[in-house]
Amino acid sequence: MSSSIESRRPSKVSIVGAGSVGSSMAYACLIRGSADVVALYDIAKERVDAEVADLAHGSEFVPSRVMGGGDVNETANSDVVIITAGARQKPGQSRLDLVGVNAGIVSSLMSQLVPQSPNAIFVIVTNPCDVLAVVAQQVSGLPENRVFSSGTLLDSSRLRFLISQWADVTTPNVHAVIAGEHGDSEFPVWSTANISGVPIRDWTVDGEQTFTQEVLDDLGQEAALAAYKIIEGKGATNYGIGLTGARLTEALLGAGRCVLPVSAIVHDLYGIDGVALSLPRLVSRDGIGDTVPIPLIDSEVTELKASAERLHETLLAIKS
Ligand code: 2OP
Repeated sequence: MSSSIESRRPSKVSIVGAGSVGSSMAYACLIRGSADVVALYDIAKERVDAEVADLAHGSEFVPSRVMGGGDVNETANSDVVIITAGARQKPGQSRLDLVGVNAGIVSSLMSQLVPQSPNAIFVIVTNPCDVLAVVAQQVSGLPENRVFSSGTLLDSSRLRFLISQWADVTTPNVHAVIAGEHGDSEFPVWSTANISGVPIRDWTVDGEQTFTQEVLDDLGQEAALAAYKIIEGKGATNYGIGLTGARLTEALLGAGRCVLPVSAIVHDLYGIDGVALSLPRLVSRDGIGDTVPIPLIDSEVTELKASAERLHETLLAIKS
């Protein structure tokens, strides 16, 4: 008897790199059911086999299936491939400082991963992720809508958490993005930040302005420096970026289009061209769509251009 249920190929996300970021991201994807199948790949076979076994032992308790190992063909036929492999920041080191070693790793990985999943969407998490998204797109020749970076999605989530704490409202009510580089030149777009439609500067408690300019400056600084503080304390960040990757996977495998601050190559926007940086974008099964035209004020355009220049200089340095 033929089944009336249409057979659907299981969705698959492959996470490349079984370090603390990659294994946390795999864990988050499994718990959230971000994809039907979660694959974890790393050249360090003993490490990745141990991570996959440890994750698999919880299979009874999660909606997704885990697989993986030390061979790149574990990533075959993925819908989404997320690259986390590479050197990570040491205390006090900037993300851009990693470009020398990680550009080569990401280039080499793309040349191995694309043949395994020629139709996949590739997300670069390895830092400096904005610069490496351009490297990955150039070395693969894939369309720009299918190679991008998580960018400031994590930074924006950090900022929303801090705002929610300060205002004592739950995070889903907070709408705020950090734009530009996922790094030291990032900046909060305060002009459009709001809590349930109330512009953030108009939020008051007992007639008192909750978010003075001093408070906004402090919150923006705390979000931008969060990773440095966590790295000082425990050597790396992993849970926040892991959850970020799971959320992004759901947006790329879901039915609709959502707006997320992620980093994709920009063309002729505010005079910026050829670098990847974060602005709110439409994200769907087709990958990256249009940039959402949020009305940046002059000072924010200036900060965006400064961020773009910093990224452009780093890109040129790779090629020199
Ligand atoms: C983070 O922001 C280190 O880019 C990583 O957590």
